[in-house]
Amino acid sequence: MPQSRRIIIDTDPGQDDAVAILLALGSAELEIVGITAVAGNVPLKLTEKNARKICELAGRPDVKVYAGAIRPLARELVTAEEVHGKTGLNGPQLPEPKMKLQDEYAVDFIVETLMSEESGTITLCALGPLTNVALALIREPKIAPRIKEIVLMGGGFFEGGNVTPTAEFNIYVDPHAADVVFKSGIPIVMMPLDVTHKALTTAKRTKAFRKLGTRVGTATADMLEFFERFDEEKYGTDGGPLHDPCVIAYLLKPKLFKGRKCNVSVETASELTMGMTVIDWWGVTKRPKNAMVMRDIDHDAFFELLLERLGRL
Ligand code: RIB
Ligand code: CA
Repeated sequence: MPQSRRIIIDTDPGQDDAVAILLALGSAELEIVGITAVAGNVPLKLTEKNARKICELAGRPDVKVYAGAIRPLARELVTAEEVHGKTGLNGPQLPEPKMKLQDEYAVDFIVETLMSEESGTITLCALGPLTNVALALIREPKIAPRIKEIVLMGGGFFEGGNVTPTAEFNIYVDPHAADVVFKSGIPIVMMPLDVTHKALTTAKRTKAFRKLGTRVGTATADMLEFFERFDEEKYGTDGGPLHDPCVIAYLLKPKLFKGRKCNVSVETASELTMGMTVIDWWGVTKRPKNAMVMRDIDHDAFFELLLERLGRL
């Protein structure tokens, strides 16, 4: 077995974040060095608690969970209880976590880890607003060349936005943080709505999780059944897009995805298009190609991978 890939998961659980964390925990190819919670889908006190609930659900109370930014860099926090429920993890009844939250501030953990671990060995998996990642880059710019890669779920272009007509939630909540990250020069793999909207949790796929007959399988089916209803009503689809697990699936099976390197620039001035990720897919500008932007996914293989790995927990 090749040496496992060392990752930090930055997250705002969120049912889809939860499934992404479970996918990582069910995959021996990955070593989770730490989980850093950020305010996003719900306030920080809930996202950090939800991250711990998911680790305990997977039988992994040893994973270190840290709390990070309580709000975006400049704008007021916008949350998404209408999608994720009041707790942020509505669906299953998960017990209050017993594992403790780490004392260290998540941003300090990210900086300290990147400065002390061998350069180029840590991948950041960003599943929520990019506030923690941007704060770490601002606090210690020396970490930028030491980060192997940032794989993030966020943005959208051909698909438009899911919070405004032009902006996706993670980028909309903290466009200034996203601007810092996309201008950092760090290798970025981007999973925008253009690809995550092709990964739908159909009823058949959700049933397959329940058929696992395990605590994780049942809880996952309960989470998806709650989470998908918002997008089903909005888009009239069978199931909702399973956004965040695309980030972890990329690390496990990159060939599931297709895209191209292009420039991504973030709108931080106009209120009309605030948080829009302007993706120069056809290369009509001279702007640097700062991200590998994914647009296609083998969604059947994606869900097969998810089922197989969650079945291991
Ligand atoms: O727009 C989808 C993204 O916003 C996902 O990461 C979801 O968890 C929410 O954070
Ligand atoms: Ca998320």
